[in-house]
Amino acid sequence: MHVGQRELLAVAVRVAGEAAELARTTREKAILDVDTKSSETDVVTEGDRASERLVRQRLAELRPGEPVLGEEEGGGSAVEPGGVCWVVDPIDGTVNYLYGYPWYAVSLAARVDGASVAGAVVEPDSGRCWTAARGHGAALDGVPLRVSRTSRLDLALVATGFGYQAERRRRQAAGVAKLVGRIRDIRRAGSAALDLCAVAAGWIDGYFENGLSTWDWAAGALIAEEAGAQVRLPGRAGDGFGPDLLLAAAPGVADELRTAMIESGLAEV
Ligand code: IPD
Ligand code: CA
Ligand code: CA
Repeated sequence: MHVGQRELLAVAVRVAGEAAELARTTREKAILDVDTKSSETDVVTEGDRASERLVRQRLAELRPGEPVLGEEEGGGSAVEPGGVCWVVDPIDGTVNYLYGYPWYAVSLAARVDGASVAGAVVEPDSGRCWTAARGHGAALDGVPLRVSRTSRLDLALVATGFGYQAERRRRQAAGVAKLVGRIRDIRRAGSAALDLCAVAAGWIDGYFENGLSTWDWAAGALIAEEAGAQVRLPGRAGDGFGPDLLLAAAPGVADELRTAMIESGLAEV
């Protein structure tokens, strides 16, 4: 790994770790200060806002001048070609954070020319730290990650997520209802970033979701890809799926899963 990339990874780990510690230690108070966004079920807590403030402040100190795109404050538009842009989801899995369900994380990625080159996903509750650097693999607390070797879709454990709009959730769930008869089972754990990490670890065989934002997957998709997953990022076209779909799957089931998703009406829901 060259020095520049090592430095980006080190900064991502350090800053995401500090934000995770803040989210954990202030949770009890932070979840009392809640606002809603796109719908009444789409919440933002003081923990989300404080985490993003800390990330921005620390990046300004450690990487001055580099633009930051974050879920709560936006930004990241003035990126020079070849320059680094940081993408942060200050808490991915906010509903879980609100309830105390431990599947939530701080996600921070460094991107160059629209591709993630280094990323960290840190879980406040357990302290687990998921990392990847493009071309240099993915790791969980320093231990290399590899996707599952499964080759049968009917035995595959697949995760997904639903958007915050009721109408969209209904369409997504209708597709999942068809798919579930063709796989081992379905998981909906509530954090896109961690679901991608779970694919990397082989804890699940695949994950898909329509309608995510860049901050949801900027670090996690790199971690899944570096662990050997086949990853289809949003924004693509011409492969039978709409531009909104993110799909990450173990290579042994990726093609079959794609076909089953299209047949279940999950291409763009
Ligand atoms: C959400 C989570 C969830 C996914 C939603 C995301 P947030 O992010 O990643 O698992 O299904 O689509 O919006 O709102 O908790 O940062
Ligand atoms: Ca998110
Ligand atoms: Ca979030």
